[in-house]
Amino acid sequence: MDEDTSPLAGGRAPAGHGGGGGTQEPFKDGELIVLIDKVGRRHRVRLRSGERHSIHSGLIEHDDVIGRPEGIVVVTQLGAKLLAVRPTFAEQVTGRRRQAQPIYPKDLGAILVGADLHPGARVLEAGTGTGALTLAALRAVGEQGLVVSYEAREEFLEAAKRGIVETLGSLPPNLTLKLGDVYLGVEETGMDRVLLDLAEPWQAVPAAKAALRPGGIVFAHCPNVSQVQRFFDCLRDVRGFGMLEAFELLQRGWTVRGRSMRPSHRMVAHTGFLCFARRLAEDELFEPEGEGFR
Ligand SMILES: C[S@@+](CC[C@H](N)C(=O)[O-])C[C@H]1O[C@@H](n2cnc3c(N)ncnc32)[C@H](O)[C@@H]1O
Repeated sequence: MDEDTSPLAGGRAPAGHGGGGGTQEPFKDGELIVLIDKVGRRHRVRLRSGERHSIHSGLIEHDDVIGRPEGIVVVTQLGAKLLAVRPTFAEQVTGRRRQAQPIYPKDLGAILVGADLHPGARVLEAGTGTGALTLAALRAVGEQGLVVSYEAREEFLEAAKRGIVETLGSLPPNLTLKLGDVYLGVEETGMDRVLLDLAEPWQAVPAAKAALRPGGIVFAHCPNVSQVQRFFDCLRDVRGFGMLEAFELLQRGWTVRGRSMRPSHRMVAHTGFLCFARRLAEDELFEPEGEGFR
């Protein structure tokens, strides 16, 4: 995708929690949009009055898009058609240049439901990375909830801050970004949810245990099954956790066009194991034998 993601670029996302659905207004000067061509290529473009965007199939005048409704089809001077839409939440949080690996969109929704992030929830996260999961959590908990996110690397924290400001327009008051090593412990207590996406989640188990209220849920994203095993072993050793569960999601698209009705040639297959457990009221371990309790 073409990129113009600098928060200093002049444009601001519509207020809200990111993603294109927040407004019925026509496109404005300074907005970030996505142009989609006939073969499905996507170009992120920051609209600026008087400017032009050049792609292989020709030029688009920004002024031909500004003031027009989302979903308009615009035409280059070479006659190629492009659909103009606002980026969805997934496109906004994963489509920009980044240093850390964000959670994939296919996993984001499952994490929000699996960890039961609800309006008003108090969420502790580590590490912040690009801020993709932070933004998804903020959306789910709403203005009544809060998110505290720890990141060990200052440059990542600053980049995440810029990405969040770009997506939301400003840093929301119910978000606290902290520079710190979660393996050394956290100050927060009484949290409803803990979300871990870092290399050694088992090292964060004592912090998660201290931070979570009884009945709260801890989630860890683990790319490798050896991480799942160490994380679960640690939850069992530390005790005070139950209902341990891990699963992964494989996303297979389908082509449904004319006589062509078939699975896509490519899949979004393994990205990571999604691991969940519940904080118990006492230092017990509770693991039902059956599967599929989720
Ligand atoms: C895979 S990235 C997280 C990506 C993030 N979930 C997202 O959606 O963009 C892992 C992040 O954890 C941070 N990290 C690693 N160890 C940490 C620790 N002990 N405490 C806090 N952050 C840590 C890394 O610097 C990195 O930014």
